[in-house]
Amino acid sequence: YQKLKKFPKNFLWGAASAAYQIEGAWNEDGKGPSIWDTFSKIPGKTYHGTNGDVAVDHYHRYKEDVELMAKMGLKAYRFSIAWSRIIPDGDGEINQLGIKFYDDLINDLLAHDIEPVITLYHWDIPQALQDKYGGWESRSVIDAFRKYCQAVFNAYGSKVKYWVTFNEQNIFTAMGYRWASHPPNVTDIKRMYAANHIINLANAMVINLFHELVPNGMIGPSFGYGPTYPITANPNDVLAADNADDFNNNWWLDVYCRGTYPALVMNHLKALGVAPEVSAADEKLLKSAKPDFLGINYYHGGTFQQNQIEHPDTDQHEKNFSKTDPYLMQPRSAQAQAPETTMFNNVQNPYLNKTQWGWEIDPVGFRIALRRVYEKYQLPIMVTENGLGAQDKLESDNVVNDQYRIDYLQEHITEMQRAMTDGVELLGYCAWSFTDLLSWLNGYKKRYGFVYINRDDDDQKDLRRIPKKSFYWYRDFINKNS
Ligand code: BG6
Repeated sequence: YQKLKKFPKNFLWGAASAAYQIEGAWNEDGKGPSIWDTFSKIPGKTYHGTNGDVAVDHYHRYKEDVELMAKMGLKAYRFSIAWSRIIPDGDGEINQLGIKFYDDLINDLLAHDIEPVITLYHWDIPQALQDKYGGWESRSVIDAFRKYCQAVFNAYGSKVKYWVTFNEQNIFTAMGYRWASHPPNVTDIKRMYAANHIINLANAMVINLFHELVPNGMIGPSFGYGPTYPITANPNDVLAADNADDFNNNWWLDVYCRGTYPALVMNHLKALGVAPEVSAADEKLLKSAKPDFLGINYYHGGTFQQNQIEHPDTDQHEKNFSKTDPYLMQPRSAQAQAPETTMFNNVQNPYLNKTQWGWEIDPVGFRIALRRVYEKYQLPIMVTENGLGAQDKLESDNVVNDQYRIDYLQEHITEMQRAMTDGVELLGYCAWSFTDLLSWLNGYKKRYGFVYINRDDDDQKDLRRIPKKSFYWYRDFINKNS
C-alpha cells in the first residue's frame, strides 16, 4: 500500500572488517601485541587454535583489497585501527609506521571514492595496558585511550568523516568478563559491570575530544542490538521481554544517548551488590557527550518468557543462556553469576529458521530494531554490521556459489528499506564482511565475506582473493541503487 522509498544517492553502501580479523603482521613494523594476540594462543580457546598472526594478510595486500572494493563499487569501507600499531605499549611513543599504514590505506580508499569509516576500538587493547593497569578495569586506561585517539584524530581527522568509538561493548565485555571466552578471560559479573562503566566514560571522553578536534566529522558507538520479543501475550512474558530489553540493550544505549543508566537495571544490580560505582563527576561526563549517530550491528534478536524458576542454579542458567546465545560454540564457565536470571528466560522463537551456527535469521526483526532504536533516541543510524556466517565451498573454476548469502542480504536490505520508508533516518549499510576473515572463535570455517580467501584453519595456502557470487550481486545492487 505504500511505495518503498528510494535509497538516497549518497547512501553509504559499504562493507566492514576489524583489524585483528584481517591484518596479520601481528608483530611487524613496530606493532605491539594486543590482548587477542595473547589470548588466542592459550590452548583450547579458539577453533583449531586459529589466531590473527597472519589472518588474511590484509596488512600486505590492502591495495589488492581496495582494488576489489572499487571493482565492486563500494561507497564506504568500515575498518578498525589496531591501537597497538599506533602506540605499541598503549600509552608511550607513537609508532610512525603504524600511522603510515592507515594513512596509506585511507588515501587509497579516497583515491577510489570510497568513504572510510574508522572504528577506534574493535576489542584489541594493547597487552601492555592489560599488564600495567588491568585493562578496562582501570581508569588510567581512559587517559591512554585519549592519547591514542588524539593521535589518530590529528593524523586522519581532516580526511575521514565517520568514526565509530567502541564496537559492540555489550558483546566484548560479556565474553571477556563474564564467560571468559574472550580476553581478559574473566568470570566475574561485578568486574564486568565495573569495566563497562569505565568504557562508558572512555566513550564519552572520546566523543567530546572528537568534537573539539574534528568539528565537521561524525562519531558514535556501534552497538550489537537485538530486539526482544515476548513468547506469548501473557503480560508476564511481555514484562520479561521488557526486562531483557533493559538488561541487554538499554543498559548501554541509554548511557550512550541520554547519559543515564536505566533505573530498573541499576536498582537490581545494587541489590545484588554488583553495580558499578558512579560518581557525580562521572554522571556529568556521561551527560555531556552526544553521539552524532548510532552504529547498529544487527544479527538477530531474542525471545523471552517469564522465569518460573525462583532460585535458579547456575546450571539452569547455563542451559537457558546457551540455547539462543550467539556464541554457541564457545565454552561457558560454570562459575558465572547470573543476576538477571530471575527476570527473564531466553527461549527459542518457533517462527524463525537458524544459520549453521544456530543464530536466528530474522529480517523483520531488523526493521523492528531500526524503528525501535530510532523512535527512542532520534539519532541517525548507520548499520555498521549485518551478514551471514556460513561454511562456503570453493568449487572448480574459482566459483563460490553463496546464493544463501545473497538471499539473506537481500531480505535484510528490503526490511531496512521498509524501516526507512517508515521514517527511520539511515546513513548507510555496511555488510559484514568484505573479505572472509578470522571469526574470533570459529576460525575460517565460518565465513562472512563477499570475497573468498583461499586459506583454512590449518593451512595458510596462497591467501588468494576470489570474488564470490554475492560479490557480483552486491556490485549490481549498489550500481542500481546509487
Ligand atoms: C560481531 C563482531 O559481533 O559479529 C565481529 O563485531 C564478528 O567482529 C561478527 O566477527 C560475527 O561474529 P562471529 O563470531 O560469527 O565471527
